[in-house]
Amino acid sequence: MAKSVTAFTCTACGAAHKKWAGRCDACGAWNTIIEEAPLSQGPGRGLGAAKGRSVPLSGLATHEPPPPRSQSGMAELDRVLGGGLVPGSAVLVGGDPGIGKSTLLLQGAAAFARRGQQAIYISGEEASAQVRMRAQRLGLADAPVRLGAETNLRDILTTLDTERPDLAIIDSVQTLWSDTVEAAPGSVAQVRAAAHELVTFAKKRGVAIIIVGHVTKDGQIAGPRVVEHMVDTVLYFEGERGHQFRLLRSVKNRFGPADEIGVFEMTGAGLAEVANPSALFLSERGQPSPGSAVFAGIEGTRPVLTEVQALVAPSTLASPRRTVVGLDSGRVSTILAVLEARCGIPFTGLDVFLNVAGGMRVAEPAADLAIAGALLSAREDSALPAEAVLFGEISLSGALRPVSQAENRLKEAQKLGFSQAILPEGQKVEGADGMGTRRISDLTGFVGEIFGA
Ligand code: TYD
Ligand code: MG
Repeated sequence: MAKSVTAFTCTACGAAHKKWAGRCDACGAWNTIIEEAPLSQGPGRGLGAAKGRSVPLSGLATHEPPPPRSQSGMAELDRVLGGGLVPGSAVLVGGDPGIGKSTLLLQGAAAFARRGQQAIYISGEEASAQVRMRAQRLGLADAPVRLGAETNLRDILTTLDTERPDLAIIDSVQTLWSDTVEAAPGSVAQVRAAAHELVTFAKKRGVAIIIVGHVTKDGQIAGPRVVEHMVDTVLYFEGERGHQFRLLRSVKNRFGPADEIGVFEMTGAGLAEVANPSALFLSERGQPSPGSAVFAGIEGTRPVLTEVQALVAPSTLASPRRTVVGLDSGRVSTILAVLEARCGIPFTGLDVFLNVAGGMRVAEPAADLAIAGALLSAREDSALPAEAVLFGEISLSGALRPVSQAENRLKEAQKLGFSQAILPEGQKVEGADGMGTRRISDLTGFVGEIFGA
């Protein structure tokens, strides 16, 4: 008989700990570790009396054609799913409360249903009447989606087993409870057990299941990260408060490319798809001004232009501010250090504020040159050429390194009316005629060429 031990689990990332601690070593979150009864006692030692049965094995060859993906017709959603929803797959949609997950999935369910897919939407958070009212307001009342309001996992699985829809949406996993687990709904044990049963059901019955998970800030409720490893596809719905743009980002996809983004705009009548995000992100850009640099980036398979904005001002603080929104702050520190050490341009005594316009988040190293450009332009109070986009990775020596997909970046820039690109010297470019290029070998050369210093 295995000894019964209590376990300590981080509710943010699901990491197991031997003892309680204020901060989780695995994800760095504070006050998220709670004590829980272990999920299962696990098998006893050795093979013992109860032997398992042998699992049937088979080869890789198959004569069955791959099952067709089903498309919702919402191009932004289909793209992030990797070209449509795969039958029998499990998709997790995570995001902050109130960001629009329920709205997105209700619209998604209606879109699938209108194309002949059988869709069931189970809400554990809102009553059916509330969901119906929202559907009415979104103009979806005529879509053949069937609604249920339930939190009991067993009842939900029984319903899905009888109905056998093509698609089931479970909103949200934190409200579900399974009677086989002795823990409160929303605890790591419950959330894991519920996700596990839903995923198993999806595979067995060929029903695509979309599970909603709230990103949680306090430690009492488990976040979506604890089930990421179980599902086929993980999507995060994100956006800045105060901005109407919402990004659906795939961080894991067993059936398609990860890092793909879908762009939406939250309007009074629900989420509207944004087919041309570059135009949207640059739309607020007025006259060329110091501190602004246009970065030609790639998100997943799609080029997206964004504006990096910098403000540099004398500081009254002993350790000046470094406020970075939408960019990796470690990367920004590195670039500041390279500017100081390799080009002799210090930022000591100066507050630095950096931001990506429109609430976009940029993680590509290819953004280095645009970040450096925005910083220098703000510091020198001199605008970068208005017709130019920038891209290139900066190494610690100050040299510029080529990046991937230069053609796509240039074509997108050209489409949006830019006529010039500032890029690394070693960058190979084919098939972007009509686009002027200014090739730069290192950061010192960049400072000399652009700012004439
Ligand atoms: P919701 O989908 O309920 O968020 P989640 O399920 O992620 O918690 O969206 C809630 C927010 O969206 C709410 O603050 C209002 C806003 N909203 C609109 O602006 N327009 C709309 O048409 C809808 C339905 C919601
Ligand atoms: Mg919701």
